[in-house]
Amino acid sequence: MEIFHISAECYPMAKVGGLADVVGALPKYQTNAGHKLRVVVPCYDTKFRNENEFEYVHWGSVTLGNFEFPFSVLKETTDKLGYELYLIEIKELFDRPNVYGYEDDIERFVSFQIAALDWISGRKIVPAVINCHDHHTGLIPFLLKYAYKYENLREVRTVITIHNGLYQGWFGFDKLHYLPEFDLIHVGFLEWGNSLNSLAVGIKCANFVTTVSPSYLNEINISANGLESLFNSVRTKSRGILNGIDIEVWDPSKDKMIIKNYSLESSEIGKQKNKEKLCEQFELDPSKPLFSFIGRLFEEKGGDLLPQVSALALSENFENINILILGSGNSVIEDQLVQLRNDYKGNYNVFIGYNEELAHLIYAGSDFILMPSRVEPCGLNQMYALRYGTIPIVRRTGGLRDTVIDFGDDGNGICHDQASVGDICYSVNRAVKLYDDKINFNKIRKIGMETDHSWERVCQEYIEIYNLIIEKNEI
Ligand code: GLC
Repeated sequence: MEIFHISAECYPMAKVGGLADVVGALPKYQTNAGHKLRVVVPCYDTKFRNENEFEYVHWGSVTLGNFEFPFSVLKETTDKLGYELYLIEIKELFDRPNVYGYEDDIERFVSFQIAALDWISGRKIVPAVINCHDHHTGLIPFLLKYAYKYENLREVRTVITIHNGLYQGWFGFDKLHYLPEFDLIHVGFLEWGNSLNSLAVGIKCANFVTTVSPSYLNEINISANGLESLFNSVRTKSRGILNGIDIEVWDPSKDKMIIKNYSLESSEIGKQKNKEKLCEQFELDPSKPLFSFIGRLFEEKGGDLLPQVSALALSENFENINILILGSGNSVIEDQLVQLRNDYKGNYNVFIGYNEELAHLIYAGSDFILMPSRVEPCGLNQMYALRYGTIPIVRRTGGLRDTVIDFGDDGNGICHDQASVGDICYSVNRAVKLYDDKINFNKIRKIGMETDHSWERVCQEYIEIYNLIIEKNEI
């Protein structure tokens, strides 16, 4: 079948977080399973856009109220990604380096969705399924059903996959006229809590709703930034599907971004070499356990706890551990983390920003990865860490709960329940003891490296859902 994924991010074209990794990998595995995959993202001014060949396949124009935005559709010309990648080029709105964070984000993503559908409805073939991702594409299921101009796409089935339910793409009804004309009798679908809520629209109108882990689905029925009752009401058309990881990109035995490749058998020596490189680069001590954090420095990810956790863990284990942080986000947290460099020189360092190569090296060279998330719809870092023989220390929430089991229960990691400095430091202390117990440490590392989190198995679950909604034939 022909399947479209429409998203704000897709690795390697544009990445802010895990959404990009999922949209960059799942379609590849769906292609392998025999389907025709197209991925559509906005044409940002990114390295990938500038260093790869594209051809123009369509031209059009989107009207948002009084504004008119010419757009083009570009197709990546090689097949190297394992699916067809299309970029929606709206120069005025997307020819910028960042994916999000602009004042006109609503205008940007509303016009992206309209342009994508204009192009799809002008094609000769009507796709079987459009899989939307997060609120940036939440209006699509509504537009396909009710906008007059997409009459020829009424049969297309839609799935909305929720990677993060906290952000919902709210805007006022004063911008209702941005949307292509539809019968106003259906306007209620657009409303949630007195505003136009893009994620809620997607949840109401899509034929199916998926979340990126089963536990996250249970959690958002209780706490979902105002959407709890909506999630409850769509239980029969929702399912939590745990994300996979791209085991070709994330493979310590072939990874070109790390210093020394290794397999399960050679992991002890291989990891030590990567650790030495990392420690040299960040002035740390390679004979001590290395705890790392990779991610966005926001409360949601427990980023605000990191400065205190680092200070306490380092003073409790004076000169016995290393902590390395790679991330960016809230500037107060960033400053606090940078400040700590002076107090714990030689055992602590931080890199503010994001760097894909460095992330790979950190997975390879660390002993433990910290994931103190308050909310974690799935989390991919723990899966990358497991595959690279790095033991995850996680708070039991969302996908972390589904993938990491405490070693006390014969599992693959270290778990705690509260997003608190005390709980995290308690886990760090358990990790320090475990590190000294080499037999058990290596045993747990091995359990992790043997865990199968590949997309192959998972991607079939999406196909099952697509088949289900096609068979049901509900419009
Ligand atoms: C979002 C979530 C993260 C998830 C990722 C991919 O970034 O916060 O938990 O792993 O999307 O689905």
